[in-house]
Amino acid sequence: KNIVILISGGGSNMAAIVRAAQQQNWDTGLGARVAAVISNKADAKGLELARAQGIATEVLDHKQFDSREGFDTALVALIDQYDPALVVLAGFMRILTPGFVEHYAGRLLNIHPSLLPAFTGLHTHQRAIDAGCKFAGASVHQVTAELDVGPILDQAVVPVLPGDTADTLAARVLTQEHVLYPRAIAQWLSSHP
Ligand code: GRF
Repeated sequence: KNIVILISGGGSNMAAIVRAAQQQNWDTGLGARVAAVISNKADAKGLELARAQGIATEVLDHKQFDSREGFDTALVALIDQYDPALVVLAGFMRILTPGFVEHYAGRLLNIHPSLLPAFTGLHTHQRAIDAGCKFAGASVHQVTAELDVGPILDQAVVPVLPGDTADTLAARVLTQEHVLYPRAIAQWLSSHP
C-alpha cells in the first residue's frame, strides 16, 4: 500500500511518519510504504529530508494555477501516479476543493493542532491560550469537504502552562503530533487491510 504525504513546510510530521515506517517495519508488518512526498512549495524544508531518505519528491506550485480547481486537478493527477492507498496531509497549507476530497474519500487524513471540534482553522494555539484552556493538543481526522471537521481518529492532549505563548504551546503540541500521527496512520492501515 502506497502512502503519499503532502507538505508545505518544515515537514516534521512527515519525517516522524517516515521514521516510524522504518523503525516499525510498516513494509513487512502493514504492507505499506511512504511512496512519495509532494509539496506545493519548492523550498519546503521537508523535501530535502524526504530526498535524503530516498523517497520520491514532487513539487506542484499552486501559484502556477489560476484556480483552485486547476491546481487540485493537477495535484490529483500527480498523486495518482503513485497509486495511493492513503493520502496524508502533514502541514499542507492549502484548502482542498470538494472534488479533491471526494476523489480520496475514506483514504485522506489530516492532522490539526487543536482538540477538535474546538478551534478549527488557523492560530489554534493563541486561541486556546486566549480562551483560558487548561489543555490543548492535536487531532488526526478524516478529511471531508468541510475544513477540519471530518471524523476524529485519534487525539493527543498536552497541558497549557502558565506563561505559555503560542510558540511554547505549539512546540509542546508538535512533539506529541510526532507520536500521534504515526500511531493513527498505523491504526488506519491495520484496519484497512
Ligand atoms: C503542525 O502543527 C500541523 O498540525 C499544522 O502545521 C504544522 C506542520 O508542521 N497543521 P510540520 O510541517 O509537520 O513540521
